[in-house]
Amino acid sequence: MRDNAPQNAPQKLRLGVNIDHVATIRNARGGDHPDPVRAAEIVSAVGGDGITAHLREDRRHIRDGDLERIMQATALPLNLEMAATEEMLEIALRHNPHAACIVPEKREERTTEGGLDAAGQHNHLAPIVTRLRDAGIRVSLFIEPEPRQIEAAIRLGAPVVEFHTGRYAHLALDGETQAMQAELRKISDAAALASKNGIESHAGHGLTFENVQPIAAIPQIAELNIGHYLVGEAIFIGLEGAITKMRDLMDEVR
Ligand code: PXP
Repeated sequence: MRDNAPQNAPQKLRLGVNIDHVATIRNARGGDHPDPVRAAEIVSAVGGDGITAHLREDRRHIRDGDLERIMQATALPLNLEMAATEEMLEIALRHNPHAACIVPEKREERTTEGGLDAAGQHNHLAPIVTRLRDAGIRVSLFIEPEPRQIEAAIRLGAPVVEFHTGRYAHLALDGETQAMQAELRKISDAAALASKNGIESHAGHGLTFENVQPIAAIPQIAELNIGHYLVGEAIFIGLEGAITKMRDLMDEVR
């Protein structure tokens, strides 16, 4: 949805494919195969709506040079996931991606474990959000589906929030049906609150063929960002097959 689109217009649900873990496999051997750029080209060819890549402080998957190459290889919008640091801000401003999703980052974590505390870090985040916005980069904040975090996103002037679906995904995996339904309601209520305040909602983390549909069915959610599962599934059915199946599952419920 563009900034000026009516808030309640029916929208196509976009699929952003996170290609970080193609780079994880590449880096395991230290060479240049498999190349995340080739993955980006496949995402583009198969009708994905965007490329998502997280340049982590420790460069454990995507590296600086990958960003340039990804942007050159495809016309798809790049959503750069980044920690709120001076170093990452400078890189984002240099590359000028379509979007920047600010995520919390701890060196020792295996993956992004929780949402950004936008409420607690207002003063740290405000100048970063402003500088990204001034450069024309669409800023998103990766937050837990909680009203206080959405209110913080409003105060920060972020046009987009991405809801962390990790807790939902874990509960689904553990068969905790009631708790999972409660988390789903939280995400749905959060998306409604964001929409009411003119903020676009995205969602991601831990989404799979099995758990994607209830999230995809939330009408205010405009984009899902999915990575690890698609790259894992690509081993068995190919990246094209994995993206196509995810796209079909999403479309079934919209
Ligand atoms: N969205 C954000 C903001 C993320 O940090 C991640 C993980 O890097 C994802 C989506 C994708 O999560 P997953 O790899 O579990 O699909």
